[in-house]
Amino acid sequence: MSIYSAILRPFLFRLAPETAHEMTMKMLAAFAQVAGRRIPAPGGQPVSCFGVKFPNVLGLAAGMDKNATALPAWPLLGFGFVEVGTVTALAQPGNPRPRLFRLPRQRALINRMGFNNEGAEAMAARLTRWRESGRWPCIPVGINLGKSKVTPLDNAAEDYATSFRLLKNFGDYFVVNVSSPNTPGLRDLQAADQLRGILRALKRENDTGRPILVKIAPDLADEGIDDIVTSGEEEGASGWIATNTTLNHSAVPPAMDQQGGLSGRPLRERATEVVRRVAAIASRPIIGAGGISCAGCAREKLQAGASLVQLYTSLIYEGPGLPRRIVRELRDESA
Ligand SMILES: Cc1cc2nc3c(=O)[nH]c(=O)nc-3n(C[C@H](O)[C@H](O)[C@H](O)COP(=O)(O)O)c2cc1C
Repeated sequence: MSIYSAILRPFLFRLAPETAHEMTMKMLAAFAQVAGRRIPAPGGQPVSCFGVKFPNVLGLAAGMDKNATALPAWPLLGFGFVEVGTVTALAQPGNPRPRLFRLPRQRALINRMGFNNEGAEAMAARLTRWRESGRWPCIPVGINLGKSKVTPLDNAAEDYATSFRLLKNFGDYFVVNVSSPNTPGLRDLQAADQLRGILRALKRENDTGRPILVKIAPDLADEGIDDIVTSGEEEGASGWIATNTTLNHSAVPPAMDQQGGLSGRPLRERATEVVRRVAAIASRPIIGAGGISCAGCAREKLQAGASLVQLYTSLIYEGPGLPRRIVRELRDESA
């Protein structure tokens, strides 16, 4: 039994989920301030994807480090890349609390955070500080962009472009998040015409040719996936992230159910199916996410066609030793 499951997890799980999250992030952020300069590159097998070199295939998924407060700390856990955000053009508080719920038996979470974040300007200021202080991490940094809640859907393209303009010099790759279930109407932006408009607006700003990926929902029908991939690649999307959280709560006991996106173990199979479907059509790389909690789960996404993988929920259940363990096992398996 690890120190995490014996001591830390019982302590954290006695707190409200968001309080536990905030406490963990504060510890990591303090650590990043103190030790951020000396964190070595993680192990694993390097890969190149959309023109970026990754020390290994496992990354931290968006939503954990929304404001990049702990940015330098993530390679210490073994992650080969980190995706910060979702960040929106305007700072916003997100939905009322409680908005994050644990389902320990299902090894799952439900969240309806609603893109609580400090906004793109504050993110740019923080990233500048990390860079100037010499604490910029030794792994690629992705920046996940969302639409501000107050911005009408018709003005979404300009809203994404505003964030991109402020942040384009910082990210090794960018993600157009059109798949969170917690901003009203956001998923409608997965429609081919809407997505084309957003990608065109970003392309106009993208003078340094940063890779721009699109993150999709697991709840799309197969034809919807085909449409989005075809139109996205026509507009120059550099890759795909499959998937975000799901609105399919069939694995959730009614007494435990909450409104929001479900992540973790119950999402694993569907997310892998979506990776496979995207891979059948896409010519650009895929980052697989959804229910990855072991080397076997990561391998499953890679075999379905992903080039990289990400996790979030399993970190809450298995603790900070998990990423390094997965990376080691993946390396040993292929040795
Ligand atoms: C609490 C929480 C917050 C999240 N916030 C975001 C977010 O802001 N942007 C985003 O693209 N995905 C967000 N996600 C989705 C994850 O990045 C990931 O796609 C999803 O949870 C599936 O991976 P997992 O099963 O390993 O958690 C969030 C997930 C959780 C659990």
